[in-house]
Amino acid sequence: MAERSRARVGVLISGRGSNMLALLYAARQADCPYVIALVVANDPEAPGLAFARAEGVATFGLSHKGRKRADFDALVDAELRSAGIEYVALAGYMRLLSDDFVARWAGRIVNIHPSLLPRHKGLDTHARALAEGDRVAGCTVHVVTEALDDGPVLGQTEVAILPGDTPDSLAARVLIAEHQLYSRTLAAFVLREAAQPLLSPQSRRA
Ligand code: GRF
Repeated sequence: MAERSRARVGVLISGRGSNMLALLYAARQADCPYVIALVVANDPEAPGLAFARAEGVATFGLSHKGRKRADFDALVDAELRSAGIEYVALAGYMRLLSDDFVARWAGRIVNIHPSLLPRHKGLDTHARALAEGDRVAGCTVHVVTEALDDGPVLGQTEVAILPGDTPDSLAARVLIAEHQLYSRTLAAFVLREAAQPLLSPQSRRA
C-alpha cells in the first residue's frame, strides 16, 4: 500500500513498548494499512522510546510530573497533530486521559487491555483472573471512551489458564496474544474507518 494512503498512527506508551513494537513490525508488511508515525511516552526514560528511535520512528518523551493532566494532554495532542496523526493507539500507557483529549480524538483512539473485557477492568488483571478462579484469560482491543476500559470492543483473544499459573506466567502468554491481536485489529479498524467516506459525508477522516 502506498505510504501516503496509509493511516498515520501515533502510539502512546509508558514503559517497555512491546505492543508498540508489534504494531510497528506489522506495519512493515506491504499490505498493512497504517504506519506508526510517532511514539509518545510520558516518561523520557521509557525503554520503548529507545526501541522506536532505533527503528527510525519519530518520538516525543515528556514527563507528566509537575504538570496538570489537561496541560500535559494538550502538549501530547499538539505533538500528535503536528505529526499529522489520524489515529492514536494506547499501548501500555499508564496515564488516565483527560476527557478533553478523549473528546478531541473521539472514535480514533484504541487501547489494548490484558483481560477479556468487561471482566477485570483496571490494573492487576492476571492476579484477579487467577484469584477468581477464571478458566480463561485473554486480551481485548477496544475504542477508548471517557470511562476506563469501557469503550466498544473491536477484538478479543482467549488464552487458557493452566493449573499452577502465576500472574507472570499468565501475563507472558497473554502478551503473545496481545501482539497478534493488536496489529490485526488496528488494521481492520483503520480500513473500516477509511471506507466510511463512501457511505457518509460526516466521516471524521473526510
Ligand atoms: C500490556 O500487557 C498491555 O495490555 C497493558 O500494559 C502492558 C504493556 O506492555 N495495558 P508493553 O509496554 O506493550 O510491553
